[in-house]
Amino acid sequence: MKLPIIPLDDAQFWQNPYPLLAQLRREHRLAVNHEGVVVPLHWSDAEWAIRGSDFINEGIEFLERRGFVDGDPLHTWRKNALGVKEGKDHIRVRKHVSSALSKRSIDPLRPMIRKIAHSILDHFTQNGEMEAYRYYGMWLSRSVMLDFLGVDQEEISHSEKAMAGGNIVDCFGPKVTQEMRDNGNKAIQVAMDHTQGLYQGRRDEQSDDLLSHLLQANEGQGSLSDGELITLFSTIFGSGASTASIIASGIYELTQHPDQAALLRNNPEKYKKGACEEVLRYRPAIYAIGQKASRPLQAFGYDFLDQQSLSVILGAANRDPKRWDNPEVFDITRDPSIWSLSFGIGQHFCIGQAIARCTIEEGLAVFLSRCDELEFSETPRWVPFVAENKLESLKIKFKSLESDSA
Ligand code: HEM
Repeated sequence: MKLPIIPLDDAQFWQNPYPLLAQLRREHRLAVNHEGVVVPLHWSDAEWAIRGSDFINEGIEFLERRGFVDGDPLHTWRKNALGVKEGKDHIRVRKHVSSALSKRSIDPLRPMIRKIAHSILDHFTQNGEMEAYRYYGMWLSRSVMLDFLGVDQEEISHSEKAMAGGNIVDCFGPKVTQEMRDNGNKAIQVAMDHTQGLYQGRRDEQSDDLLSHLLQANEGQGSLSDGELITLFSTIFGSGASTASIIASGIYELTQHPDQAALLRNNPEKYKKGACEEVLRYRPAIYAIGQKASRPLQAFGYDFLDQQSLSVILGAANRDPKRWDNPEVFDITRDPSIWSLSFGIGQHFCIGQAIARCTIEEGLAVFLSRCDELEFSETPRWVPFVAENKLESLKIKFKSLESDSA
């Protein structure tokens, strides 16, 4: 079957992929990406491909198709990740963090998140100008994660620098070079060694934070292995980057839609949930979820071989007019219970969605309470070829508003 191509290897496509995805979705049920991997274009097919049992998570092959081999530090790290585990093994690891990351445990953190957001803005709003991706989105999500994990700045900064410098998340993107592999391997090795050292220093301390709980799980019988513990901790810490991308994308959209910014500023309790869900839908942080056929099967009018890959490109599924009216319009007043696929669905549903959602909701609401008349000081550009849909930077000007945080 000849299918149309989604040109993920074309840098220009990444600046605005949505018109082409919409056109393909109108005319076709399936497409292929630049590597020939099948992509379902409609929301219902995409949802089925993630939620159902016909397709399962792609596993370590996803990284192997990007040139990583057994023995590479990033390969070792990824083999221990929740995302590649299935069945009992997956349940065993997931249960150690699911309660700490549940909505019930995370909701009480909202005042702490607002406080951090205000304290960041206290530093930056006087000049009426800031780079809001790094100095607001990243700082906020990172500080929230540190507080939540019970780790302080000095303890983490060494491995954090290595991880950021190695651009590890980009090694999961659609175009990976040898230089990226080398940097990613080097960075994850530093982070793994450092995390191991962090644990050694903490084993004797009794505390109530997530890190201490994970360490207890590591010592209990049949629980987390050393490798699983290290990967879990760094995944949780590193995933704050996706939260930061969504906060920046939210500020980007609200700058272009002053009417919607005003709604959220004037009535944050009513609109903060809708604003968060709309940014997640409209500008998904993760560009695609990799799945594979669990057996030879026919789905969406296509014959899949056993283990054949399938890529769910979220930007296609999340703008399907069969699920949302006027899906190409950014609208924070939509019903937020009509959820998108941005956190996945089914057994690998994002375990950090509650802390991500709280940080995004409070982060955007606090930002607008302090900044009005938003304007870009430089045209923002999207980074091409990366697993995480993010802006190169977000330089904005604004009128500072008085803080009412006290
Ligand atoms: C806006 C922010 C975030 C987005 C868009 C996001 C997105 C996703 C998606 C799409 C998946 C499913 C992947 C798949 O099916 O292969 C996932 C899984 C996961 N996420 Fe997130 N995530 C975010 C924030 C976080 C945070 C803050 C944490 C940690 C606290 C986190 C931890 C995880 C973990 C551990 C998994 C694997 C779950 C499993 O396989 O059982 N994520 N995330």
